[in-house]
Amino acid sequence: MGRQVLVTGGTGYIGSHTVVELQSKGFEVIIIDDLSNSSAEVVDQIEKITGIRPLFEQFNLLDAKRLNTFFQKYNHIEAIIHFAAFKAVGESVNKPLAYYQNNLISLMYILECMSRYKISNLVFSSSCTVYGQPDQLPVTEQTPKKEAESPYGNTKAISEEILNDVVKATPEITAIALRYFNPIGAHPSSLIGELPQGVPNNLVPFITQTAAGIRPQLSIFGDDYQTPDGSCIRDYINVVDLAKAHVVAINRLLDNKTKSRYEFFNIGTGKGASVLEVVKTFEKATGVKVNYTIVARRPGDIEQIYADTTNANKILGWKAEVSLHDTLLSAWNWEKKIRNIN
Ligand code: WQD
Repeated sequence: MGRQVLVTGGTGYIGSHTVVELQSKGFEVIIIDDLSNSSAEVVDQIEKITGIRPLFEQFNLLDAKRLNTFFQKYNHIEAIIHFAAFKAVGESVNKPLAYYQNNLISLMYILECMSRYKISNLVFSSSCTVYGQPDQLPVTEQTPKKEAESPYGNTKAISEEILNDVVKATPEITAIALRYFNPIGAHPSSLIGELPQGVPNNLVPFITQTAAGIRPQLSIFGDDYQTPDGSCIRDYINVVDLAKAHVVAINRLLDNKTKSRYEFFNIGTGKGASVLEVVKTFEKATGVKVNYTIVARRPGDIEQIYADTTNANKILGWKAEVSLHDTLLSAWNWEKKIRNIN
């Protein structure tokens, strides 16, 4: 069996796609997930895709006793990818304490265990939300971080500070933070994908549910921004491309190729797309009309952000490959699969 990697949050949206890519590159994957925002059958689906069933333990990382027992049992882990976190921006505004507790303490427990059990390598799931509304575009890794728009975004910014400080104090730990832009789409097999609970907050699952007739209409939050068509611009990245970036980061750590013991990279396509462009591209890719209406802006939305991916391309050696067209088609194929629409 290959080198062992722990994936926390491994039954989640990005986590499950990353487990598939790790297994396909010969890594032995162990998943910890508390299933608070995913389901155990994702493990079955991963096995269907790769033919290998990842080891899976269900518990919350805040259970320090259970986490230590886990590391005593699995004592060949060489690297950790830490996805496990609450991630709903709106929810975080209403439940800040739950977000700070869950997202920050889980990271601190993971770092403590890395020290205790001599695990040197960590890939951390960060976010472009650390940039807030940038003054210049595209954003590079040197673009100043700004006041987070939400407690969720703040947990990512604080987590990066914790990583930076802990790495400085702990020579045997090296970390890479990946700042995701907007992850969308699903695995080409349509066996795994995004499974939002309740009414989706994010644009693409709302589009696919509207196209599937589950939602009567998509509300586009504002078309009066200072952008070409007035709607907000984001950098939408295919989830499989994003998953592959994690495998590249893990190899960089295991091969001791990092230039410093804390590196961070923008993981995006480098191209911005507006909400209206996404809707039009979806309609073109799928042939399905999306019923939408323009409504007021959503509080907390920034006008536009997209990545300068020079470092990811040149230093990490990773580049996004799947087009917005094909990614939206994969999202639609996934929606049709889970709703039994042919
Ligand atoms: C995208 C655009 C909305 C829904 C999210 C996470 C953030 C980060 C990146 C992880 C915005 C518009 C949306 C709808 C709409 N992920 N929209 N109608 O807010 O850019 O950020 O992904 O770290 O944490 O929150 O993504 O998909 O919610 O919105 O018009 O029904 O689509 O206004 O312009 P966002 P989103």
